[in-house]
Amino acid sequence: MDDYAKIIYKGKTYKLPVVTGSEGEKAIDISTLRQKTGLITLDPGFANTGSCISSITFMSGEKGILRYRGIPVEELARHSTFTETAYLLINGVLPTRKELNRFSVLLNDNSLVHEDMQIFYQNFPRASHPMGILSSMVNALRSFYPELQTVEEEINKTVTRLLSKMRTLAAMSYKISMGHKVIYPRPDLPYCANFLNMMFDSPVKPYRTHKELVKALNVFWILHADHEQNCSTSAVRVVGSGRVNLYAAISAGIAALWGPLHGGANQAVIEMLSDIVKNNGDIDSVIKRAKDKNDPFRLMGFGHRVYKTYDPRAKIIKKTCDRVLKKLKIKDPLLDMAKELEERALTDDYFIEHNLYPNIDFYSGIILRAMGIPTNMFTVMFAIGRLPGWIAQWQESADDPKWRLSRPRQIYTGPTKSKYIPIDER
Ligand code: CMC
Repeated sequence: MDDYAKIIYKGKTYKLPVVTGSEGEKAIDISTLRQKTGLITLDPGFANTGSCISSITFMSGEKGILRYRGIPVEELARHSTFTETAYLLINGVLPTRKELNRFSVLLNDNSLVHEDMQIFYQNFPRASHPMGILSSMVNALRSFYPELQTVEEEINKTVTRLLSKMRTLAAMSYKISMGHKVIYPRPDLPYCANFLNMMFDSPVKPYRTHKELVKALNVFWILHADHEQNCSTSAVRVVGSGRVNLYAAISAGIAALWGPLHGGANQAVIEMLSDIVKNNGDIDSVIKRAKDKNDPFRLMGFGHRVYKTYDPRAKIIKKTCDRVLKKLKIKDPLLDMAKELEERALTDDYFIEHNLYPNIDFYSGIILRAMGIPTNMFTVMFAIGRLPGWIAQWQESADDPKWRLSRPRQIYTGPTKSKYIPIDER
C-alpha cells in the first residue's frame, strides 16, 4: 500500500488505501471500513462520496473543466455532432467515418415506434407532464422490444433502438398533446434535423429545417450528453445495479431528472424570467428572495454541486444563444432579462461568497424557445441529450465484473425496541 490514509478510532489505527485517478483526483477507499472498524461513513447528498471508478467523463468544479473520454466539451461543441458524441461516450473512442455511417444507419433503422404505443399517449390526461409520460413510455419499450440483452449484438441494438426511439417518442408526445397528426421519422434527415421535423412539420405547413437551429440543437444535446455521477445518472446506476433491464434503468433516470433542482431547472428558469418581465423587471425582489433563508425560493439556473466557478457549458450555451437569436433576427426579452439578472447576481456579495454562477440551465431555455419548443418540453430535451451518458454509465457498470448491488447504510435515530400496544389500549 503506497498511498494510504489513517483512521484512528478508540486508540487503534487503521490504514485505508488511497486511489488516484488519471487527473490526480484522490479518494480514500473505505470499502473495508465497516469490516475493520464497525464504522460506516455518513455523507448526506453524497457530496464527498465516490460511488464508482469511471473512465467516461472528467470534470473539475474548481477549474471549470468538462471532458468526455478526454476530449474538451468546447471542442466537441465546435466540431462534433450529437450522434458522433453519443458514439464517443458509448464506445469510448471517436468513430471512423465508416463506423459513424453504420451507427447512423442503425439509428435510422430503429427510429419507428410500435403503432400500439400511440394508444398509451391518447389515454394520458391532457395536463400530464411530458417527463412523466416519457418515463412511462421508455419503461414500456421493454414490453414491445423484449429481445435478449445478453448477446453483445443485441446490447448494441438495444442501445441504438433506445437512442433513436426516445427521440421519436418525445416528438410524438408533443404532436399528440397538440391533437395533431404524428409525423414519422425521415431516413434522409440526420438525428437533430429529423427531430425538429417530427416536432414541427405538418400537412398544412411543411417544416423547413434551419441550418442554424440544427447546429444549435447539436450543441445543446452535446453539452447535455454526460455529467459524471449526477442525480439522474446515479439513479440509472443504482436502479441498474438490481440488474433491471436498460429501459427500466433509463426510465428511473428520466424520473430523477424531472426535478427542478436537476433537469427541471431549465423550465423553472424560463418561468422565473417570465415572472420578472411581467413584474416590470423587478430583479431586486428576486435577488432578495433568493438570499432569504426563510424563503425556499432559489435563483434558478444558478449554483452547482460540483462547479464552484462558471459552468463551462453555460459559457458555450450563452454564446450559442446570442448567435442563434442574431442569425434568426429574434428579439427575446427573456435573453435581455437573463443577462441583466446574471450581471446583478455576479456582483452581489451573497452570490460571490457562495460561489454561485450560472449553470447550463440558465440560458438553455432561450435557445429552445427560439426553436419553438414549448416550455413544458424543456426537460424532455435535456433527457434526450443525457441519454448517451446514461447508457454509457449503465454499460460501464454492467461490464464491471465486480458490479455490486447499490445498498447504502444509515444511522438509525428512531425509537429503540418498543412494545406493541393493542389498538383498544392506546
Ligand atoms: N440561489 C440561492 N442560493 C443558493 C442557490 C441558488 N440558486 N444555490 C445554492 N445556494 C446557497 C444555499 O442556500 C446554501 O447557502 P448556505 O450555505 O448559506 O445555507 C449554499 O448556497 C449551498 O447550497 P446547497 O443547496 O447546499 O448546494 P448543493 O450543492 O446541494 O446544491 C444545487 C446545488 C444545483 C441544487 C443548487 O445550487 C440549486 O438549488 N440551484 C438552483 C437549481 C438549479 O439551477 N439546478 C440546476 C443544476 S445544473 C443542471 C444539472 O446538472 O442538474
